[in-house]
Amino acid sequence: MNPGFPSRRRLLGLAAAAGVCGLVPRVQAAAPETLGSIAARAGLLYGASIAAEVESDKDYAALYMRETAIVTTDYAMKFDALRPTEEQIDFSGADRIVAFAQANGLLVRGHTLIWNENAPAWLKRKSSAEIERIFDSHIETMVTRYAGKIHSWDVVNEPFWPDHGKPGGFRDGPWFAAMGESYVARALKRVASLDKEARLVINEAHCEIDNGWGKAIRPRLLMLTERLRDQGVPLHAVGLQGHLQPQWAYDDRYFRAYLERLARLSVDLYITEMDVNDESFDPDPARRDQQVAWRYGDFLNAVLSVKAVKMVVNWQLSDKYSWYADPALARKIKGWRHRPLPFDAALARKPAWQAMADAFAARGR
Ligand code: XIL
Repeated sequence: MNPGFPSRRRLLGLAAAAGVCGLVPRVQAAAPETLGSIAARAGLLYGASIAAEVESDKDYAALYMRETAIVTTDYAMKFDALRPTEEQIDFSGADRIVAFAQANGLLVRGHTLIWNENAPAWLKRKSSAEIERIFDSHIETMVTRYAGKIHSWDVVNEPFWPDHGKPGGFRDGPWFAAMGESYVARALKRVASLDKEARLVINEAHCEIDNGWGKAIRPRLLMLTERLRDQGVPLHAVGLQGHLQPQWAYDDRYFRAYLERLARLSVDLYITEMDVNDESFDPDPARRDQQVAWRYGDFLNAVLSVKAVKMVVNWQLSDKYSWYADPALARKIKGWRHRPLPFDAALARKPAWQAMADAFAARGR
């Protein structure tokens, strides 16, 4: 546990104590509405991805404590973050995130056990037999270490990338190269044998986009889910990332119908990494915030009408810490600051917050 973070329980205790001492009025105002509380009334878990910033930025930590019910490890559990060298596994970043969540009563999504991206150079040099051994032992090490602390594992991230030209449209990388598509079922079965409680998820990108990538990936993900179900492979949920890209074609009604088809395969659906790329929107920040909010509202109103959708997670909470703030992703316009999330860089609510709250509330009615 990180003593630097006051727990939610402790804050409540302090507030109660203050009430007894007459420091706050006896008739207290209702607790402020948060995305987490409004979502809960709609039968939804709401959360955000989380990283090391919460250790240095106490206000940001407090925002998670107030607004979220679940957090996803942003990069702390990625293979290359844990295992930059062959000899050593560094759990410290992941351990601190899990401790923060536990101290504050937040659930944790483990992201991600197996991904054909983010492979360190040392792994790529291994033989197929060695890669299979590392695969099994990595899953065992991680799942055993965090058993009982993980709500859901993104067991496999982004299985498909048809542009790689591999059979079945699978994403290429060390795990696929060593085992072919069988790596997916192997990972799910292995996690299930080690942790009976965690929900097992396959997490995929681009499905909400109606360009060539979305059109190529959607049917493949649907067929994979069906195959796994028919083979009796344990799988509880499909994660749709929801990195919305309004500069490209999209069709929320079609995506909604797609979710219904997935749901017929008896899986839950999670929106796992939602944000809005605002690069095609108005340069004026106020007008852009409104456009981002509209995009959130339209998407969520479509998606949340599907009963199987049980969770909505943003990729970070504040524009300050969005991955779009990374120079590699930033729009190549001088002075452009992306505004993709429900809180701005000063951690103030944006119209996107209201649009999300309204969509959650509408589902709750
Ligand atoms: C991102 C992280 O947020 C960045 O810090 C990192 O540099 C790149 O990856 N889909 C995923 C996430 O599944 O793991 C990615 O996270 C965003 C896209």
